[in-house]
Amino acid sequence: MKLCLVILIMLCSIYESFSRYLHIKGGLVVNHDNSALSDVLIDSETGKIIQVGGNFDDYVPPHTRVIDAHDKLVMPGGIDPHTHLDMPFMGSVTCDDFFSGQAAAAAGGTTMHIDFALPVAHDLVKGLEEWKKKAESSCIDYSFHMAVTQWNNKTYRDMAHIVAQGINSFKFFMAYKGALMVNDEEMINGFERCGQLGALPQVHAENGDAVTWGQTEMIRLGVKGPEGHALSRPSVLEGEATGRAIRLAAYVGVPLYVVHVMSIEALEEVAKARLRGQRVIGEPVVSGLALNESVMWDPDWEVAARYVMSPPIRAAEHGKALREALSRGVLQLVATDHAVFTSVQKAAGRGDFRLIPNGVNGIEERIHVVWQTMVNSGLMTSSDFVRATSTAAAQAFNIFPKKGLIAPGSDADVIVLDPNQEHTISASTHHSRIDSNVYEGMNIKGKVVMTISRGRVVWEHGKLNVTRGSGHFVPLPPFGPLYEGLSKQQTSIQLPQRYGPTPVRRAGAEADGQS
Ligand code: URP
Ligand code: ZN
Ligand code: ZN
Ligand code: ZN
Repeated sequence: MKLCLVILIMLCSIYESFSRYLHIKGGLVVNHDNSALSDVLIDSETGKIIQVGGNFDDYVPPHTRVIDAHDKLVMPGGIDPHTHLDMPFMGSVTCDDFFSGQAAAAAGGTTMHIDFALPVAHDLVKGLEEWKKKAESSCIDYSFHMAVTQWNNKTYRDMAHIVAQGINSFKFFMAYKGALMVNDEEMINGFERCGQLGALPQVHAENGDAVTWGQTEMIRLGVKGPEGHALSRPSVLEGEATGRAIRLAAYVGVPLYVVHVMSIEALEEVAKARLRGQRVIGEPVVSGLALNESVMWDPDWEVAARYVMSPPIRAAEHGKALREALSRGVLQLVATDHAVFTSVQKAAGRGDFRLIPNGVNGIEERIHVVWQTMVNSGLMTSSDFVRATSTAAAQAFNIFPKKGLIAPGSDADVIVLDPNQEHTISASTHHSRIDSNVYEGMNIKGKVVMTISRGRVVWEHGKLNVTRGSGHFVPLPPFGPLYEGLSKQQTSIQLPQRYGPTPVRRAGAEADGQS
């Protein structure tokens, strides 16, 4: 009997792997703008969606595997626009590489991510080469943002080279003094260059000088544990830096993307800017939406250190405000900032919180935690959910409708979610290499039962079927939607020179150097 079952399963999987087409039948197809009961036909060979809608039994080609999606939602695969795989940081290297991190992503319904490439010794070109090598083991689609950590003529030239390689965003760290941080002058030059190249500037917004001061204060006061991390970088420093970056972006005339918005102060800056008509995107991360800072006061050092990330996870009222801002469209999309360090790696900061490598998990949990906190709570519809977890990122990084949409011609990155299946998040069942999970014990109603990456089923029956090297680099073209018509906007604080200032002609001006 058991043997028969095994043979049956083997035959099924052989059949499944030979079928060229996938026919997802009877599910509720949810896009960012509508949802309808529809069938979806996918060509696994081209990795594209061929047809959506209606009952097309008549047209289904031979070699088709039928996937029953009755009572389930069929949605675009998640796009996580903020990850750090295989990243050297604070004396460690994040313990998920491109293969393990992406396998975890696939198990959680994410089919593409955008990772932050860091320059090597401030060299952008070398940094991108390094990240391309790291990504050779990829099993889902991916792309990169590039960090700018210094400003000189070479940076100016290299940014054009990076854009030509299919990267359309540059990140500026306003914190991590002495490591990744740039000053305002460097940031302004970088912003201006982004504007010339049609690239989207991004900021990690915390006042790095003030953080360093706060850290020294905490150590002086004898607060050396993980709670010192939270206390040394309060939300006022995030609000200040967010407001500063937003104003400088307006001054230079570029759009801005604020990564990991963690506080009321920061989200209010984003909201005010958007009210003024400035093109600013605010990205909350799952940890900021779902967790609160009390965990960093846990009496067990190892537990408390797990939650150390920057900007810090805040008090509960911040999480509530972030969820509300996301539900109202003040913030636009949800990322993870997946940057994982094992308990052994985190232990480097025992005795001094400044040495705890910063970062938490989320690449596998994002879809489920957002579903639970935003959809099951009634804060979002399923279409809003698709927008926040997939479509908005595809639009911001200019790859819509290739990604982020279930439609003929789009990449067949698709998830099937069973809204009635309950499960509990745990490190004992997750797929990341990290030995803990900041969402441990969280109960979720709604489970991704199938993930399809470019037409291949990579996750089903609770099992991964991923292949090293099968993931594609997705080039991100410059001058995306955030740049459309931007030069026609003349906000009151934009650089006046852009609009042709006329110098005042004064007598004896030649002598003063005016001509
Ligand atoms: O703590 C964090 N966020 N670690 C990753 C690096 C960053 O700042 O995004
Ligand atoms: Zn059918
Ligand atoms: Zn950051
Ligand atoms: Zn990050």
